[in-house]
Amino acid sequence: MPFRSIFIAFVIGSSLIVAALMVNRARPAGDTSHPLPAFTRATGRCAQCHREETAAIVHQFERSQHSQANITCYDCHQALDGQDDLEHYTFVLAREVTSLNCQACHRTEYEQFARSRHALPAWAAVRGTARLSADQIAFGERYHPGAVDRPPNALALLEGPAAIQTGCLGCHDIGRPNPDGSIGSCTECHSRHSTSIALAREPQTCGQCHMGPDHAQLEIYNASKHGVLFNAQRASMNLSADPKLLTTADMPIPTCATCHMSGLDGLKVTHDTTERLSYFLFAEVSEQRPGYLSGQTEMQETCLKCHASSNVNRFYAEAEAVVSATNDVVREVEELMADLRSEGLLTPEPFDEAIEFLYFDFWHYFGRTAKHGAFMGGADFVQWHGNYELLLKRTELEEMAAALRRTGGRDEPGSASLVEHF
Ligand code: HEC
Ligand code: HEC
Ligand code: HEC
Ligand code: HEC
Ligand code: HEC
Ligand code: HEC
Ligand code: HEC
Ligand code: HEC
Repeated sequence: MPFRSIFIAFVIGSSLIVAALMVNRARPAGDTSHPLPAFTRATGRCAQCHREETAAIVHQFERSQHSQANITCYDCHQALDGQDDLEHYTFVLAREVTSLNCQACHRTEYEQFARSRHALPAWAAVRGTARLSADQIAFGERYHPGAVDRPPNALALLEGPAAIQTGCLGCHDIGRPNPDGSIGSCTECHSRHSTSIALAREPQTCGQCHMGPDHAQLEIYNASKHGVLFNAQRASMNLSADPKLLTTADMPIPTCATCHMSGLDGLKVTHDTTERLSYFLFAEVSEQRPGYLSGQTEMQETCLKCHASSNVNRFYAEAEAVVSATNDVVREVEELMADLRSEGLLTPEPFDEAIEFLYFDFWHYFGRTAKHGAFMGGADFVQWHGNYELLLKRTELEEMAAALRRTGGRDEPGSASLVEHF
């Protein structure tokens, strides 16, 4: 071979090698930071097939803390006592991986979660006691009297099974009873194979369910000073910090998780999102919770990592004033509705007259929004999506009530427009 051809072959050959190295460098960290031999040891034969079958699952797992801690696919997927078997090649897997599989290694988190409103009360709101054992009902009632042993919400019954399954339960199945006797789903916040705390600390993750006019927490947060700063500065924050070591240096701006769950600067981490609350803000009329004092103390300990006590006290006093003012307005209209019912102008059934829907919007959308806005720094939500709407809807409700009284509940010419409006 003439020298020129050898030289050209050498140049082409080495360019290919350099190019290959550059491509390799550009691959995502997950592909190179876990060398294949160690990874194969940790996941065994599952990954051999699943690199072909469902490759993304293997990659998500590869990037997780579990993979680094040498947890295997089988550690989660094996069938435990009480779970249905799934014969899978040479393995016996759980037909459904549930919070029981997580609980085997994370008992504390499971126990805190199981006693929170994210567990049985969330399920009972939509399905009542369906599929719950007597023990589960008793367990849930111990922590949340009246919130588990109750009928399904009237709207769920009226809208029917298809709407419940993909609608209500799309959010409320965070607390579903599993066939193996365990409660709820851990993967709603952590996902199945990334099992990430960074993901769980993202406001957007909570906002999958905590959004919309009846619980606008995500919208309120995004409009608040906290949300604006977080969205601007998130790149510089360490969302993966170990919960037991999380400091305000990792996250100087709070997300939903910081206030409701995190153990900031030495505080206790909790999976019981009820612990730091002092009012039933979601209710028609918001009463204090049984743990009013401890709820406020625990939440305020978090605020105090970043704010002076004078500011926190003022903030709470102002928010509590909004709760009590909203309660006053709602009580007034609640009485009006009760009067119409006792005057025989409304049937005892819920949601069969237009005015009942308007009253529902009145407290469920606007009353709640005013209260949530006040506690989470959303001025626009206290005002234009809250108090202004309360005023408007109250006027409309009073006019509808007057029309009902005038006509004794029969249609009168012109009243149709009033109803169509809603
Ligand atoms: C011999 C190849 C092979 C091995 C080994 C293997 N799988 Fe699979 N697995 C498959 C195939 C093929 C599917 C079906 C994929 C589909 O439906 O698209 C599957 C499906 C699954 C499913 C979904 C089952 C369902 O019906 O819902 C799970 C979960 C699963 N595998 C987990 C595992 C785990 C965990 C291991 C190791 C303990 C493992 N697999 C080992 C090939 C394999
Ligand atoms: C931290 C626990 C955990 C680990 C580790 C884990 N899985 Fe899973 N996996 C789950 C859960 C939870 C589900 C969803 C529940 C179900 O469908 O049973 C799931 C579902 C799946 C599915 C069905 C997914 C779908 O959308 O159809 C496959 C396939 C699967 N896993 C394979 C694997 C493989 C392969 C590995 C290892 C690389 C692995 N899993 C490791 C918890 C885990
Ligand atoms: C076989 C035991 C085992 C099982 C089963 C298991 N985990 Fe883990 N998990 C671990 C270990 C070990 C770690 C790493 C702990 C550490 O680094 O301190 C971990 C870490 C985590 C973390 C923290 C991850 C991070 O980003 O720091 C989360 C969240 C988590 N697991 C959730 C789950 C969920 C959800 C399930 C069920 C779907 C589950 N785990 C099943 C053992 C397990
Ligand atoms: C899959 C849907 C879903 C996700 C994701 C979710 N939640 Fe919830 N959350 C609910 C439901 C449903 C309820 C209402 C439970 C009930 O019926 O009282 C609720 C209630 C709450 C409550 C009130 C508890 C009480 O005692 O009244 C807090 C606080 C809360 N969630 C915080 C969070 C935070 C913080 C996150 C994210 C880290 C989050 N949630 C993620 C569905 C979800
Ligand atoms: C987008 C997610 C989502 C959907 C869909 C959803 N909910 Fe909720 N629901 C929530 C969240 C989040 C809360 C907690 C609100 C709060 O505490 O501020 C909640 C609270 C409730 C409450 C008050 C708390 C309690 O336990 O009494 C009831 C009742 C309720 N939902 C019933 C339903 C019904 C019935 C449906 C379907 C007709 C439904 N929800 C659809 C997310 C959802
Ligand atoms: C409502 C969302 C949500 C649900 C549901 C949830 N987690 Fe978490 N989890 C979080 C958040 C947020 C953190 C990080 C807390 C922090 O910022 O310190 C966390 C942290 C963890 C950790 C790390 C704890 C530590 O101290 O190192 C584990 C393990 C864990 N979760 C397991 C689970 C298990 C098991 C379940 C189901 C029983 C579950 N999680 C359900 C949001 C959730
Ligand atoms: C700066 C701290 C902080 C942040 C950030 C925050 N919250 Fe809150 N949240 C509060 C306070 C304070 C309350 C009212 C507590 C009480 O009842 O005493 C509250 C109330 C709630 C409630 C009402 C429970 C009820 O009784 O109806 C839910 C649900 C909730 N927050 C979810 C979220 C979600 C989801 C996010 C993120 C999108 C979030 N929070 C962000 C501090 C915060
Ligand atoms: C991790 C730190 C952190 C936590 C926890 C925290 N905040 Fe903040 N907060 C901030 C930062 C940073 C700002 C923006 C201050 C500025 O404008 O520079 C802020 C702004 C505010 C503001 C608007 C500005 C002001 O001072 O009037 C209010 C109100 C507020 N926080 C209330 C609270 C309350 C109430 C809690 C607890 C429920 C809380 N914060 C928890 C960091 C935090």
